[in-house]
Amino acid sequence: MEKNSHLVVSSPNIKYTDDYILSDYVYEETLVTQKVNEIVAKPYKKSISIQTERKVGKVGIMLIGWGGNNGSTFTAAVLANRHQLSWNTKNGVQDCNWFGSITQASTVRLGIDEKGNDVYVPMSQLLPMVHPDDLVIDGWDISPLNLAESMVRAKVIDFDLQQKLKKEMATMKPRPAVYDPDFIAANQADRATNLIRGTKQEQYLQIRADIKSFKDKNKLDKVFVLWTANTERFCDIRAGVHDTSENLEKALRNNEPEISPSTIFALAAIDEGCCYINGSPQNTIVPGVLERAESRGVFVAGDDFKSGQTKLKSVLVDFLVSAGLKPVSIVSYNHLGNNDGKNLSAPQQFRSKEITKSNVVDDMVESNQILYKPGEKPDHVVVIKYVPYVGDSKRAMDEYTSEILLHGTNTIVVHNTCEDSLLAVPLILDLLVLAELFTRVRYRSDQHGDWQSMHAVLSVLSYLLKAPLVPASAPIVNALFKQRAAIENIMRACLSLPPTHYMQLEHKIP
Ligand code: NAI
Repeated sequence: MEKNSHLVVSSPNIKYTDDYILSDYVYEETLVTQKVNEIVAKPYKKSISIQTERKVGKVGIMLIGWGGNNGSTFTAAVLANRHQLSWNTKNGVQDCNWFGSITQASTVRLGIDEKGNDVYVPMSQLLPMVHPDDLVIDGWDISPLNLAESMVRAKVIDFDLQQKLKKEMATMKPRPAVYDPDFIAANQADRATNLIRGTKQEQYLQIRADIKSFKDKNKLDKVFVLWTANTERFCDIRAGVHDTSENLEKALRNNEPEISPSTIFALAAIDEGCCYINGSPQNTIVPGVLERAESRGVFVAGDDFKSGQTKLKSVLVDFLVSAGLKPVSIVSYNHLGNNDGKNLSAPQQFRSKEITKSNVVDDMVESNQILYKPGEKPDHVVVIKYVPYVGDSKRAMDEYTSEILLHGTNTIVVHNTCEDSLLAVPLILDLLVLAELFTRVRYRSDQHGDWQSMHAVLSVLSYLLKAPLVPASAPIVNALFKQRAAIENIMRACLSLPPTHYMQLEHKIP
């Protein structure tokens, strides 16, 4: 199929109007009940109508930590792609791309052709999505450097491309941000000079004013706010402070010390009607923030980008467990030399990362009661060390030891060297593109009922996040291919297409 050809679904269950794609979808599941000596599996169907608004509108993104490695690299990547820049390296002339982004650089299997061969289309072709070239970018940072200076400091982008981007990026300057030395490592203090002063309530109001002025000035339809600033320590969730939306509001007015900068940003974003995405491990989205998002009908998503080591882990452990092999010990060692690594060299900030990195195999382990007794888990250790010389080129070394047949042992060792920000930036783009898409998707189970938005906790973004936030009592899925299938199949549901399966019965029972 041509890269830019227009996709049309031909089905009595889909209707295209000027404004919407309307899908009548039948969702099928199997209800399982366990009795004493019997497990009963009963298939059921549920009819849902789904409407996807076709007009994307003008979209803005505000990055918290804009001047960091991810923030400056994201900006450089958007501009390089927008201007279709190429640049010289010792390997010759290079062109820009969006490799690593599922929305821009991956395809999905749409169906089969007349001969029974699979047909793939770019994921971005399935439904109307915002194009990265059209994004308007802004943000905050405690460091005052402009984006050209931040790009140089990050040492991620090739020198020649930096030269081509510098002029435009020098005009971009992060807004002052909320800094609280109690939440990030003390070693960050020397860059923290670009600050919103005042009480927590005043800081919150300033962030709301920043969002509003960005939106008005650029005539934006929607603004998304994404945290890619330093990892904070976990806040100590307290009754009367973080537990309800009302208490949080009161606590903000009382200048309560245990409210983190990221929670102030989240509240301000939600109150401006903006989706808030947490790309770092800390527990920003406390119960009061969640309640606020639900009551305002605004999406939140988090926590912590799933870029390298954890992404591989959520593939490898899924493979081992589903192959009937039993991972018993997983030891992950990292060293990195960028500012993220420097911040994580402090124990409390490392602890936040350790938590999000540690629970990523739980769903896979719990799925196989032949291998694991209830409550049994593999030993799982995560070590992170700061080694300035390696810069943004993070090293991850993992050892997976599994028990195999008759208590034999299988040890897999993986060494992964990756440019951290070049892996994280496409995830930032995908989080934004997909979150924006789902703001335009509504559903109803009753033909005459009101259209409703998806749940405020946007768990469909789990693929991109290490410790996915899910609605209360919903299961957490970490296994990567399940997470990806959820994205693809929900998009297919919006087009009234059945979920992708890999049976290929055409070739098996011809
Ligand atoms: P970085 O340290 O280069 O950038 C963070 C930026 O945030 C800095 O410019 C800093 O001045 C700024 N900052 C700190 N506190 C702030 C606040 N309260 N308000 C506004 N700005 C503030 O780090 P990098 O490499 O860009 O990573 C950003 C975050 O993303 C980190 O928390 C990291 O753990 C997380 N992350 C990164 C991944 C990756 O790069 N592959 C993967 C997963 C998560």
